[in-house]
Amino acid sequence: MARKIIIDTDPGQDDAVAILLALASPDEIEVLGLTAVAGNVPLDLTQKNARIICELAGRHDIKVFAGCDRPLQRKLVTAEYVHGATGLNGPKLPDPRMPLQDEHGVDFIIRTLRGEAAGSVTLCPLGPLTNIARAFQQAPDVIGKVAEIVLMGGGYFEVGNVTPAAEFNIYVDPHAADIVFKSGVPIVVMSLDVTHKALVTKPRNDAFRALGSQVGVAVAEMTDFFERFDRQKYASPGAPLHDPCVIAHLIRPDLFTGRHINVEIETQSPLTLGMTVADWWGVTGRPANATFMGSIDDTGYFDLLIERLARL
Ligand code: RIB
Ligand code: CA
Repeated sequence: MARKIIIDTDPGQDDAVAILLALASPDEIEVLGLTAVAGNVPLDLTQKNARIICELAGRHDIKVFAGCDRPLQRKLVTAEYVHGATGLNGPKLPDPRMPLQDEHGVDFIIRTLRGEAAGSVTLCPLGPLTNIARAFQQAPDVIGKVAEIVLMGGGYFEVGNVTPAAEFNIYVDPHAADIVFKSGVPIVVMSLDVTHKALVTKPRNDAFRALGSQVGVAVAEMTDFFERFDRQKYASPGAPLHDPCVIAHLIRPDLFTGRHINVEIETQSPLTLGMTVADWWGVTGRPANATFMGSIDDTGYFDLLIERLARL
């Protein structure tokens, strides 16, 4: 029985690979819709990029919605320096022909959760948590209907990637993250502690290209582009392929290990705003609210990606 999910996303090359992995796995995953959020690039680009990726996968039927164009309280911070001006720099992909849905992404999330059986929908946020938090604020009745939230964000041992203390998705909208982490919904956190162990090395990039398909070559060109920044910054053999970890967890949870701990979000301090204060050693006595992932079988992860992307 395929798990029903909503992907909330700010494409972004790594978001794109996550969306492709989900669409290549219909036995395990039923994508109810994609809601775009402002993050890596502004909303007008993330909603367009989401549609470009659906068309790359040959899935003009997927419903794509535009959600919030800015964080709950803060000014939008974007990451063109990583993802390029369009957010999908690398491959040359045609403008989308499939329509953007008229309904606001937040209204789609609320309507879907109200319409589906309790505990039957998993939310998969890959960007700032603005849309999810807004949905919970506007319709608290839907919180109890979410089966699980599996998100990419945060870091403990890896701490931050946009400031010394904070990971980008949480940093962009720390107030939204605070609402989500305090919602009581079961959360699985794919943090930088995991994604920094999932590097797109040259052989792995070559394996994407060797698929020879339009999808394989596009993924190779996307990861080639997006990794130049991280490879230089970390002097690492490849860039972390963050967002597909969320989808991989739905298909092969055994690839990941972590701990069920307390995680709270810094929303006050200018110095550490957006920090995921993860009680990895259980020193606070605060109740556990998240399964915080710490490690990954990266060989198994990339084998899964290649095997599934070959289907598209
Ligand atoms: O910090 C990495 C995260 O921020 C990824 O989801 C990337 O796509 C950006 O949204
Ligand atoms: Ca993202």
